[in-house]
Amino acid sequence: MPQTCDHLLLRAIRKERIERTPVWIMRQAGRYLPEYISLKNRAGGFIKMVKNPDIACEITMQPIKRFSLDCAIVFSDILVISDMFGIELSFEENKGPRFDKTIRSETDLKKIKRDYDVEDVNYVFDAISRIKSDLNNEKPLIGFIGSPWTVATYFIEGNSTKVFDIVKNMMRENKVLLQNILEEITSASIKYINQQIIAGIDVVMIFDTWGGLLNTNDFSDLSIKYVNKIRESLVNPTIPVIYYTREPQDKIEVLRNLNVDVIGIDSSVKIGEFRKALNDKFAIQGNLDKEILKLNEDQIFTAVDGVLSEYGCNTGHIFNLGTGITPDIQPEKVECLLNAVEQLSPQYNQR
Ligand code: CP3
Repeated sequence: MPQTCDHLLLRAIRKERIERTPVWIMRQAGRYLPEYISLKNRAGGFIKMVKNPDIACEITMQPIKRFSLDCAIVFSDILVISDMFGIELSFEENKGPRFDKTIRSETDLKKIKRDYDVEDVNYVFDAISRIKSDLNNEKPLIGFIGSPWTVATYFIEGNSTKVFDIVKNMMRENKVLLQNILEEITSASIKYINQQIIAGIDVVMIFDTWGGLLNTNDFSDLSIKYVNKIRESLVNPTIPVIYYTREPQDKIEVLRNLNVDVIGIDSSVKIGEFRKALNDKFAIQGNLDKEILKLNEDQIFTAVDGVLSEYGCNTGHIFNLGTGITPDIQPEKVECLLNAVEQLSPQYNQR
């Protein structure tokens, strides 16, 4: 049986010299795939798929069967951790997530379930076992959580907001409450991700999608601090960790203190400049603008070459989009992107 530790993605994370750049796509299982839509209709919606381990496994494997990707990522969501708090998550079509309760006061915080029992999310660990068995160690599996800060923005707002008024207000008026909420989410996250590790994931990814909302000091105190705490509490201290954030340009100083292996970034920064600014401390994941996938084959090849060349180093690059793929992208364009990375990246790794 092949050893996952020898796989390209894990070797790139360790910054070993490899033959080509590994590639996967955030949200690679999703609505741009007709086979996803068809299973989603049969299953009765996103949450039902996530909570059914057989279906979650099947969805995870859909892009793996269709394309030549270098890893799988568990089909789930950063917000299902709400089950450990007794908060009910739902998704209305095209409206994003919604919770049945919010945490906006000390009283709200006292009322939530605080034993953080991982059994409440057993469906995730069952899905992981099934996926690992289907993958047969041919590809590594990424498990994930949201950063406490990013999850907190949803717990406080209660839905998908673009303005974050309530969170920003809490930051000004009652930082202690915010810190207490972050401590609670951190405790639950540690138990949750550790159980994913026990269930068999090969890589941990922490999504800090809304880290960019914070100024430098707050970013350090309200986000990075808790990410590092999670890292330090992992049952397997050597499991690789990928941290993802958006708009990281003014966060370089703070990011240097991150205790992770890889930083994933969006397309707002130049990947090579970002790598150098961090003194090559991390492997870097990213960062093709997903809008490029609306262009033709030649343009996709040119843009992929642009990212590979901008990265500017022969180790430690994991190719990805800057943000998750969206339903308006045709699957053929993903095929084209993967061909481009396969054909163009060897020359950048062999330098
Ligand atoms: O990458 C993968 O394929 C793994 C699965 C995955 C999902 N969500 C599935 C999903 C992962 C890693 C996430 C992470 C996630 N979820 C983040 C952080 C990463 C990011 O995209 O910034 C956030 C902020 C969420 C919360 C969330 N989930 C929102 C705001 C939404 C609605 C917006 C949207 O894209 O539809 C979701 C829904 C969601 N999560 C879908 C999928 C496949 C779409 C569900 C559907 O309607 O079919």
